[in-house]
Amino acid sequence: MKRDFLTVWDLSEAEINILLKRAIEIKSGKDSNKCPLIGKSIGLLFEKASTRTRISFEVGIYQLGAQSIYMNPNEIQIGRGETINDTAKVFSRYLDAVVLRTYSHNILIEFAGYSSIPVINGLSDLHHPCQALADLMTIIERKGRLGGIRFAYIGDGNNVANSLIEAAARTGMSITVSCPKGYEPDTEVYERAKSLAKDRIAIVNDPKKAAHKADVVYTDVWVSMGQEKDGLKRKRKFKNYQVDSKLLSYAEPDAIVLHCMPAHRGEEITDEVMDGPQSAVFDQAENRLHTQKALLEFLLS
Ligand code: CP
Ligand code: NVA
Repeated sequence: MKRDFLTVWDLSEAEINILLKRAIEIKSGKDSNKCPLIGKSIGLLFEKASTRTRISFEVGIYQLGAQSIYMNPNEIQIGRGETINDTAKVFSRYLDAVVLRTYSHNILIEFAGYSSIPVINGLSDLHHPCQALADLMTIIERKGRLGGIRFAYIGDGNNVANSLIEAAARTGMSITVSCPKGYEPDTEVYERAKSLAKDRIAIVNDPKKAAHKADVVYTDVWVSMGQEKDGLKRKRKFKNYQVDSKLLSYAEPDAIVLHCMPAHRGEEITDEVMDGPQSAVFDQAENRLHTQKALLEFLLS
């Protein structure tokens, strides 16, 4: 039975722990089973731009012994009206797995429904679960644990925030999201996580309240891909949600700063914080590679 990875919920807590342990082992270089996916082909179909997701998947797939095939919808027949149903069924005859980056999360669900191969969410408007895996790994590296970690997410209640809420609910972290009214995380994601994690999940308006005594301070762009037409309005709404050294001073002195990147320096985060001693953003970006290799092994071996 094939397994998809469309949201963090698709993995149990035990599976997340196994996968993170394996990612740490892969990163250590002590790995003896280097090419477990020899002979396999993995498609990457991306509707949106990508630096980290595309490159880390392509490099990771190569390192696992498989080949990657990058596609943009305008270069295949889906861009000329071929249906998702037909495309998914044809992909399943050639490929061993597919990574999709889409606008609508429903496209991913539909694609996965017609595929007989694993479908991995490389970001949709609603979720970014591969990012959350790398974020969890970075927290373990820096803090040694997930249980009991106080996580502050400052800014837009977007795809990244939704996956982090699910990641916290699954792993025992506490998460406080701070956002302006009207920019909260997805209600369904929040309610479901809250039913599992109860007092470990909160949404507040005041960023200082979220940052207070936090072990991890996280932010993401104020204008996600596809939201450009509301860009000016969003930047006005979020102007008090910048992660700067003042806001960081409310967190624990040894708190780390994470950002999924790309960062809009001077908007959601200052240069001083992004390049400062508490920032772990480049380790976090690197960890996309290791966690996705572990994920591919898990789904395909
Ligand atoms: N964090 C992340 O997914 O980056 P890209 O959009 O560059 O892939
Ligand atoms: N929220 C951002 C994340 C980019 C990795 C976006 O969707 O554009």
